Amino acid sequence: MNAPVSSPSVSPARIAHPDYRAKLMSADDAASLIGPGAVVGMSGFTGAGYPKAVPQALARRMEAAHAAGNPYAIKVWTGASTGPELDGALARAKGIDFRLPYNSDPLVREQINAGTVQYFDMHLSQVAPVAWQGFLGPLDVALVEVSAILPDGSVVPSSSVGNNKTWLDRAGKIILEVNSWQHEALHGMHDIYYGTALPPHRRPIPLVHPNDRIGQPTFRIDPAKVVAVVATDTPDRNAPFKAPDDAARAIAGHLLQFFGHEVKMGRLPASLLPIQSGVGNIANAVLNGLMDSPFEPMTAYTEVLQDGMLDLLAAGKLAMASATAFSLSPDAAEALNGEMHRYRDRIVLRPQEISNHPELVRRLGCLAMNGMIEADLYGNVNSTHLMGSRIQNGIGGSGDFARNAYISIFMAPSLAKGGAISTIVPQVSHVDHIDQDVQVIVTDQGLADLRGLSPKQRAEQVIANCVHPTYRDQLSDYYARALRDSYGKHSPSLLDEALSWHQRFVQTGTMRAG
Ligand code: COA
Repeated sequence: MNAPVSSPSVSPARIAHPDYRAKLMSADDAASLIGPGAVVGMSGFTGAGYPKAVPQALARRMEAAHAAGNPYAIKVWTGASTGPELDGALARAKGIDFRLPYNSDPLVREQINAGTVQYFDMHLSQVAPVAWQGFLGPLDVALVEVSAILPDGSVVPSSSVGNNKTWLDRAGKIILEVNSWQHEALHGMHDIYYGTALPPHRRPIPLVHPNDRIGQPTFRIDPAKVVAVVATDTPDRNAPFKAPDDAARAIAGHLLQFFGHEVKMGRLPASLLPIQSGVGNIANAVLNGLMDSPFEPMTAYTEVLQDGMLDLLAAGKLAMASATAFSLSPDAAEALNGEMHRYRDRIVLRPQEISNHPELVRRLGCLAMNGMIEADLYGNVNSTHLMGSRIQNGIGGSGDFARNAYISIFMAPSLAKGGAISTIVPQVSHVDHIDQDVQVIVTDQGLADLRGLSPKQRAEQVIANCVHPTYRDQLSDYYARALRDSYGKHSPSLLDEALSWHQRFVQTGTMRAG
């Protein structure tokens, strides 16, 4: 059962406009404004800046309604993943019937995979434009965490920007959670660009360096739409990262060697190009590895700022970072809050339609480094589905960056689940990134530089460098027979066997043959 929490007091500086102070109410009262079937655009991106009090109050209302035999569920749109007080609480109350665009909450994942929650897993750069296109239908409520409301009524975002600008513009009603835990010095860190439009009215986005500020530090909102303001004082809650293990350190080592080689060959500058680092433990471990690298001063044009990115900023290896959200472990979030002034001028938080914009990723020449579930002989990558059907998280921003990057890199340990799974397989069981969008694959075994290679040349590189020795003979044997027996010899494939490793795992618990 989601237990009620009392509203904390809030300083006049946090809600400095009298009209907004007049709308202060409890989370329970605000939740009563969100009825069954509502479409709610919530803030939140990778465990940062999500509303914390109203979703829990809403979950209590749902549980009470269900106990009385009445249906009560809503459609939830966010920036990306949120936290246990939002996705976790609503899922426990069986209160989500549709979710977009990205989730990493274990309970929501379970419900999606059980078929009880409909999930629209989509490219994160496209959420705002799609919401404007209109085929998703109207957005009833925007429920957005902010860090302050200024005397002129403008609103200071919190630790993520995500799709908030769009939710605030598009929704019929607005509920604001003003979170005093968020540091006041966040004011000035955000860059909210109001120049996007739908075709045929689109204009070039005037950003040519990751550090450029092209918008304003606050959201502008229509005060007439604000129906409730709720005070909170609760930390962002993100799961801590796993400490880098041998495999993660090996991946980082191969990648740094590759970057060093590219610099030596004159294909990358000594400070590299703007780095983009994806979500997850492996991506964070690679950032840790960059700490001891010769590359500096680096810049980042990325989606999230993880612990590793913050360490690079603190050490001066990274001159600045542009993102849409923090994605910090609890310790790193507390540490950042203690030193927010130090970082304010070196971090820019933007709407996700800008942080992930394909036009900008291509223009800036990002080095995209993302985690994967599995890759195949030809370099197709699956970022999302276990055994072709069970969603892990979602594609997130990996497609926004991979297709448009200067170099698109995917990485994973060569084994998963204690060796029962090879992450290098004859054919991926689901395709998120086609071979044309994947230039480099890295595992703890080594790195395959697939640029400029034909499918058969790619397969040789992947077998030689990426697959774990436990599965190397099995993969070589498959490939040799595919070369001999395949219908076509361009991308050799044995149609009745290409997914047999996955089927074997589902049936026996291991991909190992014999
Ligand atoms: N088959 C089955 N399970 C697999 C697997 C495979 N081939 N590969 C990984 N897994 C499991 C791991 O065992 C682990 O499970 P656990 O949590 O039960 O231990 C889980 O997936 C996460 O794997 P981990 O090795 O810890 O990697 P990670 O934290 O770096 O996450 C992804 C890897 C692919 C799940 C993650 O990068 C992701 O969600 N990517 C898609 C979104 C994205 O790229 N966003 C960034 C854009 S900016």
